[in-house]
Amino acid sequence: MEKPKVVLGVSGGIAAYKACELLRRLTESGHDVRVVPTGSALQFVGAATWSALSGHPVSTEVWNDVHEVPHVRIGQGADLVVVAPATADILAKAAHGLADDLLTNTLLTARCPVVFAPAMHTEMWEHPATQENVATLRRRGAVVIEPAVGRLTGVDTGKGRLPDPGEIFEVCRRVLARGPVAPDLAGRHVVISAGGTREPLDPVRYLGNRSSGKQGYALARTAVARGARVTLIEANTGLPDPSGADVVRVVTAVQLREAVLKAVSDADVVVMAAAVADFRPAEYAEGKIKKKDGQEPAPIVLVRNPDILAEVSAERATPDQIVVGFAAETDNVLANGREKLLRKGCDLLVVNEVGERKTFGSEENEAVVLAADGGEIPVPYGPKEGLADTVWDLVSARFSSQA
Ligand code: CTP
Repeated sequence: MEKPKVVLGVSGGIAAYKACELLRRLTESGHDVRVVPTGSALQFVGAATWSALSGHPVSTEVWNDVHEVPHVRIGQGADLVVVAPATADILAKAAHGLADDLLTNTLLTARCPVVFAPAMHTEMWEHPATQENVATLRRRGAVVIEPAVGRLTGVDTGKGRLPDPGEIFEVCRRVLARGPVAPDLAGRHVVISAGGTREPLDPVRYLGNRSSGKQGYALARTAVARGARVTLIEANTGLPDPSGADVVRVVTAVQLREAVLKAVSDADVVVMAAAVADFRPAEYAEGKIKKKDGQEPAPIVLVRNPDILAEVSAERATPDQIVVGFAAETDNVLANGREKLLRKGCDLLVVNEVGERKTFGSEENEAVVLAADGGEIPVPYGPKEGLADTVWDLVSARFSSQA
């Protein structure tokens, strides 16, 4: 079988050296990789490195091997183009269709999925020019993964770091696995909550639940690979940030509500995968609660938390906004699910049966997705990413019917 053909575009940023690791992962996992650096990328990593690691000649110009028409052929023949790091300059050129070197020509001739992994200083990333270029590229179907937050060149820290090469590789793998189809969530803003809230009793204790957050993270990773801009609001998962998503950290249900309401104002889809505590202690003890000899413990009085899913469903930012809920049930799974779907007012409800093999924290899941229009879609036992993709398939079909 022919190896999938990947073009690795490298533009001129200090993170170019990290693209060597991405290249190695791609070649070692059976991809035929052609590296197309920009002239300034070669200031950071030389042509000899790219050529030796990829096993192909490397050129930045359209003037080499002209008889082979490389400025057209390389893009035409690719199954995937990934640009890592993508500078503000290459994003601008790609958004405006400039073609002054081999990489920009390749981007114009490619008809396969294109992934950009931006890396730059925070100010450059946040500049309206860059943000508009990113929005344009996403609208046209490119997968632009959000930069990571952390140490930048010099003493600065902030958003703009190239995500870990292993994470970019995973995004590429997922995009390639979907085949030559356009990313169906491109240009969409997806808000996902994940994990389980904790409701503090005192500085050392809380009421919590056993949600691991893995299903929400699988939803975030698959949505990135399908081209969405992803805001992941996570509660107490302790999981590493999924590449390409904006991550907001919260602890309690009240904080989760605030973060969700802020993020949903321009969201196309909201997926409430988090296990939200229905109740919180009525009082928070500023000092640690101590046991007292000979005394029974004081009862814990609870008050209701807001129902975020019901609120988001009832007050949608736009009539077309799609709202997805999750429910974990132990018995009467479908009947309880149907009742919950109605009560919460969402479009889709993913119902899990809690039991053996389907416990919290596992890598697999099995569910039935109930739709407000009466649909009932069983999702067989399998990896959480499979369930996540089924949710996005259903969401995507709804977007198509709205169009
Ligand atoms: N949810 C929410 N806010 C809450 C409780 C739950 O947004 N305060 C959301 C969850 O994120 C999930 C869905 O509602 O998407 C279902 O949660 P669940 O706890 O099963 O629903 P409950 O309303 O608690 O129903 P019940 O107590 O009857 O099981």
